[in-house]
Amino acid sequence: MSATVELRGVAKRFGAVVAVDEVSLTVQAGEFLTLLGPSGCGKTTLLRLIAGFETPDRGAVLIGGAEVTHLPPHRRDVNQVFQSYALFPHLSVRENIAFGLRLQGVTRAARETRVAEMLALVALADCVDRQPHQLSGGQRQRVALARALAPRPAVLLLDEPLAALDARLRQAMQLELKRLQRQVGTTFVLVTHDQAEALAMSDRVALVNRGRIEQIGRATELYDRPATEFAAEFIGQANVLEAELVGRSEGSVRLRVGAGFELHVPAAAWPGEATRAKIAIRAEKIRLCAPPASGEEPGFSARVEEKVFQGASDRLSLVTADGGRLIAMAQSGYAGQGSFRPGDAVWCAVRPEDVVVLGAT
Ligand SMILES: Nc1ncnc2c1ncn2[C@@H]1O[C@H](COP(=O)(O)OP(=O)(O)O)[C@@H](O)[C@H]1O
Ligand SMILES: [Mg+2]
Repeated sequence: MSATVELRGVAKRFGAVVAVDEVSLTVQAGEFLTLLGPSGCGKTTLLRLIAGFETPDRGAVLIGGAEVTHLPPHRRDVNQVFQSYALFPHLSVRENIAFGLRLQGVTRAARETRVAEMLALVALADCVDRQPHQLSGGQRQRVALARALAPRPAVLLLDEPLAALDARLRQAMQLELKRLQRQVGTTFVLVTHDQAEALAMSDRVALVNRGRIEQIGRATELYDRPATEFAAEFIGQANVLEAELVGRSEGSVRLRVGAGFELHVPAAAWPGEATRAKIAIRAEKIRLCAPPASGEEPGFSARVEEKVFQGASDRLSLVTADGGRLIAMAQSGYAGQGSFRPGDAVWCAVRPEDVVVLGAT
């Protein structure tokens, strides 16, 4: 039912533009993998290479272990869902869903059964005789999904499938897509530029940057252990800083960050004999409290420059002693963290295990 997708050293350029640059990637059978990256980084081209709408300049595409690099789209066991849904406007929901089955030569009776199955799967049984213009955006998206899944492809490709929906509906559909994928067990390769969407739905996320895969892993791995500056900054809010090694003690190293403050990180996280490296600290990993009376507390001082209300949390812009800037998050409305205002002096603490060392510079 589901199949692996493998790209081996795949490259694709359009004139002078390198859209995909030597990508190698294996998607497991039944996996939900998301290609996440900024606009223009090559996500759609990667999907089109898997679908067969583009042929790579170099490298190979395999589906279910068989090479399909030069096979046309209809000879690949793959189907897709587009951002625009691309439903047939004059066909009913039933006819839209049955369309691919008719092309496959599925008998009328079998088509009926499959359509009913798909309608139940996407909870649209009430809308079977409507036309697309009589449906809401979310319902259209479900029809598009049902239509794409009806022929039971081994792999489903989804290019920004939720982009046209409003924020609330998008969140509901994220959960639904994930449930649906579990239920049918089909391999899903989804493209999005929305990090929250990628983190919420995927078994693994491949972060794409300038036609290359920057990092691939489970959502929590990408979030907690970004491997590069790009990964740290694209997902979540991170402070990327230059750090210099100023001391070693048992099990940890002491770093000076800018000229402003010092931090400890576990020695194992530091790149060998390097003296300088870039580090990343997630905004919400900076703990804020009132400046301590004694100088004993580990941490450093800063001043709140700006505070932006973001609902569940406040985003604070901090200035350290050397004039460096940091972004911190504080839970709104809590007596401790949430009560700081612009101009206040604060004490910042970062646990050594929350400092991510990105690599020697
Ligand atoms: N058919 C094409 N002709 C020329 N350039 C293209 C074509 N398709 C994509 N590109 C270029 O390749 C790069 C990657 O595009 P795309 O894969 O659509 O990125 P994404 O989906 O991540 O936004 C972009 O610079 C884009 O302009
Ligand atoms: Mg795209």
